[in-house]
Amino acid sequence: MRLGVNIDHIATLREARKTYEPDPVAAAILCDLAGADGIVCHLREDRRHINDEDLRRIREAVNSHLNLEMAGNDEMVRIATKIRPDMVTLVPEKREELTTEGGLDVISLKDHLRDIVFRLKSAGIKVSIFVDPDISQIKQCSSIEADLIEIHTGHYANAKTESEIIEEFEKIRAAAVYAEKSGLGVSAGHGLNYHNVKDILQIEEIEELNIGHSIIARSVFTGIGKAVEDMIDIIK
Ligand code: PXP
Repeated sequence: MRLGVNIDHIATLREARKTYEPDPVAAAILCDLAGADGIVCHLREDRRHINDEDLRRIREAVNSHLNLEMAGNDEMVRIATKIRPDMVTLVPEKREELTTEGGLDVISLKDHLRDIVFRLKSAGIKVSIFVDPDISQIKQCSSIEADLIEIHTGHYANAKTESEIIEEFEKIRAAAVYAEKSGLGVSAGHGLNYHNVKDILQIEEIEELNIGHSIIARSVFTGIGKAVEDMIDIIK
């Protein structure tokens, strides 16, 4: 299973003081050196952490694999086709949310998303769609010709009781099996940490995990290279 490290929260820390440090580009390079398979960042409409100049510099610095999370709108498609990440992950976005709160509603946005997927793929960019582990949503992802899905693991990560955890885990497993059978690539992420990631590793259909907050949080104490290596050790 591959690991993509989301470096947004390096920029969150910088923006706490509106200064120049810590630099997300330095973080991207250190994650690469520590063995991450790719770098993930989210250019939000409100630019609350990663900004346009960060994205340009991250693209220059990252030779492994760059996955840009973004809302599916004209402004972002324009930016993506100029910057040319290796992959785009389409996510829902609300200004007032602390973090991405759930998967995209592909069913109700089907026609709009089909057009966005087409435009990105025509520019040679792979397209992933962030969805809840819900078979009816995943069915639409293949119908609009996305290359892969990222299964939202946030509900699993937030589950408190043993039975809730098992229920959410089984939804993720079923979603991954269904997506793979439909010919979609499968990744997963949100809320994963050094503990709850272990069960997710049992799901063979998942090819990649995208993890941000827990790795960046640990890096404050251990350094980012060690935080990435610790996660890779668990995944391997
Ligand atoms: N995947 C997607 C689509 C996300 O929006 C995020 C958060 O930016 C992540 C993965 C990483 O989540 P976390 O920071 O909780 O590990």
